[in-house]
Amino acid sequence: MNLIIFGPPGAGKGTQSSFLVNKKKMFQISTGDLLRDELKSKSKLSIKLKNIMDSGKLVPDSIIQDLIEKKISNPLIKNKIIFDGFPRNIEQAKSLDILLKKYEQKIFVVINLKVDSSILIKRISGRISCSICKKPFNEFFDPPIKTLECPVKDCKNRELIKRSDDNEKTVSSRLKTYQETTLPLLKYYEIKGIVKNVDAMKTISEVTKQIDNIINNL
Ligand code: AP5
Ligand code: MG
Repeated sequence: MNLIIFGPPGAGKGTQSSFLVNKKKMFQISTGDLLRDELKSKSKLSIKLKNIMDSGKLVPDSIIQDLIEKKISNPLIKNKIIFDGFPRNIEQAKSLDILLKKYEQKIFVVINLKVDSSILIKRISGRISCSICKKPFNEFFDPPIKTLECPVKDCKNRELIKRSDDNEKTVSSRLKTYQETTLPLLKYYEIKGIVKNVDAMKTISEVTKQIDNIINNL
């Protein structure tokens, strides 16, 4: 069962994806994480990507399309995918439909994390993420435990890192991009009748419970 986890920057898409990976043995495709991995190569393309990401705008659809096709075409993760941070505009949603058809898959549900924008800045400013498995923690709401051992990856040698786009200026631009370009996409999936809303203002574990219920009742 493939699903999309949808919501603004800081809503908890990565946090809830890591629970689904562990509990439901699903595979997370986070376009943000894939792009950040790309930045480590220090290629010409990576410099261009970094500039775009630090401006809070979206990177070109053609780059995203290549990243996504490489993943969707992998038979090992067929029908077990969580799309985190993708699609982000109507063009990406249409390309995804074409790819899903090509690889004989479908989206069962779009989980929409609903959060008031007032809390997002605080969530983002407290975020630190595992350098190995990318799991996000929070200095205020979800402090990291010292001996985290991820069941599939060795996170003992992790560093806890802050993202370069988690600064005030970039965050307000990311929120604007979300409102203008990504949020309208919800209609596309509402028409298909597959959107389920989640109150993501609740604690992390309460949000997980709501998502669990949705998946168990599909
Ligand atoms: P991306 O990495 O996707 O960032 P984003 O969408 O801005 O979302 P975040 O990762 O910031 O938030 P999240 O919802 O995952 O929250 P998290 O779980 O970490 O994209 C980054 C950039 O890459 C984009 O700006 C763009 O340039 C580019 N990009 C990516 N995908 C693209 C695409 N498809 N097309 C074009 N460009 C693309 O949680 C946040 C914090 O809150 C954590 O500290 C967490 O511990 C805490 N928290 C989570 N839930 C709760 C809760 N319920 N209560 C209290 N604290 C909580
Ligand atoms: Mg994320």
